Amino acid sequence: MRASALLPFALLGLAVLAGSHLASAQGTAPPPGDPKLGAALWMRDGCYECHGTVAQGSGARVGGTGPMLAPKPLPFSVVLSQLRRPINVMPPYSTAVLSDQDAANIYAYLMSIPAGKSASTIPALSGYLRK
Ligand code: HEC
Repeated sequence: MRASALLPFALLGLAVLAGSHLASAQGTAPPPGDPKLGAALWMRDGCYECHGTVAQGSGARVGGTGPMLAPKPLPFSVVLSQLRRPINVMPPYSTAVLSDQDAANIYAYLMSIPAGKSASTIPALSGYLRK
């Protein structure tokens, strides 16, 4: 059998692994944190520079400075692993500059960010929405 014929099975295995990782991450409650302290750290540590002051992201689909992180942040374990070992161009935050507790405080801040209003409730946008 050619190696390329095995590719679909390898991808399926990866998908199953990723799925079980997500399931276990979602089952873990985040450590307690202080959202006010987290908001201060968000500004002090420069998260806002790339992700926006309320984690709204740069808004660009490609080539933006940082993705939207709230409302409904990713599970804490995923956020922590992104901080310690970013998947791409984000600078890493080691425990020397950001403790696990401070990461939990930032996470509490992200959790506290409410969803924005739906565009359909903003009169000035009514002419721009698709029916
Ligand atoms: C210099 C810009 C920059 C700074 C500063 C920055 N980020 Fe990021 N962040 C990014 C980019 C770009 C990504 C996309 C993935 C990557 O490049 O690693 C990202 C991804 C993330 C993700 C994963 C989002 C996803 O959907 O996968 C989280 C969580 C995150 N950042 C949290 C933070 C926190 C918390 C801070 C502050 C302690 C921070 N970032 C500081 C640029 C930045």
